[in-house]
Amino acid sequence: METGRLGLVLAVMGLMCPAAEALDNGLALKPTMGWLHWERFTCNTDCDTDPTNCISERLYMQMADVMVKEGWKEAGYEYVCIDDCWPSHSRDAQGRLQADPNRFPGGIKKLADYIHSKGLKLGIYADVGKNTCAGYPGSLGYYETDAQTFADWDVDLLKFDGCFLDRSLIAEGYMSMSKALNKTGKSILYSCEWPLYEWPIKQPNYTAIREYCNHWRNFQDVFDSWSSIKSILEWTASHQKIIVPAAGPGGWNDPDMLVIGNFGLSHDQQQSQMALWAIMAAPLLMSNDLRDICPRSKELLQNRMIIAINQDPLGRQGLRTVMDCDVWERPLFGNRLAIAIMYKQELGGPRRFPISAVPGWKICAPQCNVTQILPQYKELGVQSHQKELVLSVNPTGTTLLTVTPLSGDLRKQHWNDTSAQKKHIVL
Ligand code: GLA
Repeated sequence: METGRLGLVLAVMGLMCPAAEALDNGLALKPTMGWLHWERFTCNTDCDTDPTNCISERLYMQMADVMVKEGWKEAGYEYVCIDDCWPSHSRDAQGRLQADPNRFPGGIKKLADYIHSKGLKLGIYADVGKNTCAGYPGSLGYYETDAQTFADWDVDLLKFDGCFLDRSLIAEGYMSMSKALNKTGKSILYSCEWPLYEWPIKQPNYTAIREYCNHWRNFQDVFDSWSSIKSILEWTASHQKIIVPAAGPGGWNDPDMLVIGNFGLSHDQQQSQMALWAIMAAPLLMSNDLRDICPRSKELLQNRMIIAINQDPLGRQGLRTVMDCDVWERPLFGNRLAIAIMYKQELGGPRRFPISAVPGWKICAPQCNVTQILPQYKELGVQSHQKELVLSVNPTGTTLLTVTPLSGDLRKQHWNDTSAQKKHIVL
């Protein structure tokens, strides 16, 4: 693939680029932000008895309305995304996918127009195989037709699932759809599940994945539970050496949706998901009911300081650097560093944690400006490297900080040094 717009933008900005080239469609220069229906609304097609929660055009229109009215759009959440169960069970006479006529009487083009009229973007879902995971028509044999249909409808993002295809054909299928989207001439953000479906047979080629996809799911579906969040974090940390170098402007690892604002996580656990998704430079795709969300969850999801970490222009994904109290660190633009300390023990009260146990704290010699963002915002001010700063971390919660060295160059001293980074990866 030729060096395109993205390469140019990065060169101009003088930023560090990940080794592999990103999909050259000019999209996802920062992790995607928006809303996706799956975890909260799954495959509820029962609009007769449950019209408020069924998968219908009404759901996306209402979500878009709230996103504009309640500050979500202003906070950066932009994409309103349809997941599985939107189509009719059969294609039309021309072989094109069509929305279920009862649940989407206006059709997808009209829905896209509505979403665009709100200044937002519309995402849609399809599958590389014979059927979608929920059994609706898949795109196998129809990649070009479906890509063109989505372009004609003015859709802005495609989530492409990987059910019902022989795993040895997964890579080829995802690449073909990427090419088909490119051929339409419309920039459509391409969200893949390629590595998730390929891992059972071999280690996926992340250089290729980054060239063809804007983000990619690596691991199982998120559920509304702490055990699910923990398993995603554990998988990510234990594969960071393979997956972290692939992330950067234009292409991101996708640990799946934010489930903040639902039923299964305590507030501390919701803070942990938000903090760690920011450290992982993850797409922030909420799956919750924005029409009815508790104020604390809303405040957390709209926290500008956490969103700024997630959207940081340096575009480097963070790493887990210490296990026990898990420490995760992410280098930020302007020689700053984000640090998340997560306390996994589910017994007892808050744990005291000395900041000197964070490997990156060494950049704070002689001094750093320290801001605590979670569990509560607190300016901790100028802290000297010598004097011990002790933090408090709640069980299953996360203490999130940014540190800014008052002299010295973080990238030179710490993260730009390959051997230092390698050392972190194997820790
Ligand atoms: C798979 C995907 C989920 C969701 C469902 C829909 O399980 O990983 O994110 O799209 O299919 O059926």
